[in-house]
Amino acid sequence: MLRVHELTRRFGSLLALDRVSFEVQKGAIHGLIGPNGSGKTTFFNLATGFLAPTSGQVLWHGAPVSGRAPHAISRLGIARTFQNTSNYASLTARENLVMASRNQMRSSALSRLLHLGPARREEAAQELRAEALLDRFGMRELADVRAADLPGGTQKILGVAIALATGPELLMLDEPLAGLNPAEKAQLMRILRMIRDEGLTLLLIEHDMKAIMQTCDRITVLSYGTLLAEGTPAEISRDPATIAAYLGSEAA
Ligand SMILES: Nc1ncnc2c1ncn2[C@@H]1O[C@H](COP(=O)(O)OP(=O)(O)O)[C@@H](O)[C@H]1O
Ligand SMILES: [Mg+2]
Repeated sequence: MLRVHELTRRFGSLLALDRVSFEVQKGAIHGLIGPNGSGKTTFFNLATGFLAPTSGQVLWHGAPVSGRAPHAISRLGIARTFQNTSNYASLTARENLVMASRNQMRSSALSRLLHLGPARREEAAQELRAEALLDRFGMRELADVRAADLPGGTQKILGVAIALATGPELLMLDEPLAGLNPAEKAQLMRILRMIRDEGLTLLLIEHDMKAIMQTCDRITVLSYGTLLAEGTPAEISRDPATIAAYLGSEAA
C-alpha cells in the first residue's frame, strides 16, 4: 500500500536518505530501525508532507504523495505521531480526541455551522469515536484532565490515540515507547497489535529491540541514510550487516 521508490533527501552536503526503496504491506506492523541519525524521522517527514524529497517518491496506493501538503496526505489516510508529543496542551484528553476526529470533515463546513442533519449525526459519531478510544487506551478516568497535566507516559499514549482518531489506514509512530514505563510499554504494544489485527497498517520507528522483534511482521534497517537490510524479525536478527551496524553495538 505504501511504496518508497529511490527516495533521496539532502540537507546541504548531508545525504539524510540515499535512494531508499521499500514497501509496507497492508495489515502489517512494519518496523523501521537504525542508529540515531540514520534518516528514520526524515523518512516520516517525507511520507507525511513535512519535507519534500530531493528526488524519488513515496507512493500511496500507487499515487505519489511525497511533496503534497501534510493535511492533504492526512486526508488520504496516513496519520503519524511525532518523536516529541504534540497534543493540544490546554485541551482535555477527550477534547483532543474529538478535535482529531473532526479533522476528517466529511460534510461541508457550512452544513456543520448550521447544524444540519448529516452534520449533527457526524458530530455524534465523532464523540462516540472519542469515547471508544478513551476506553481502548484505558484513559476514561483521565478524560477530563488537560493534556498538559497528564503524566508524561500518558501524554505519549494520548498522542497515539489522537493519531488514531483521524481514522487512518496507515499509522506511523516515531519512537512511541520512549519515556514509557514497562507497564505502559506493554499496554501500548498490546493496543498496537490489537489495531493491526483489526486491519490497520502500522509503521513503527523504535529503539526498543525486544518490542520490535516481538511485534513487527517485517523490519527495514537504515544506516547513514541507506537501506541496510529488510526482512522478518528472524532474518534481521541474524543479518550480518545489521548486527555489525546496530544490534552488535547493543549486544556488546
Ligand atoms: N531539517 C533538517 N536540517 C538539517 N539536517 C537535518 C534535518 N533533519 C534531519 N537532519 C539530519 O539528517 C540526518 C538524519 O536525521 P533523522 O532523520 O532525524 O535521523 P533518525 O530519526 O534516524 O535519528 C541527521 O544527520 C540529522 O542531523
Ligand atoms: Mg528520529
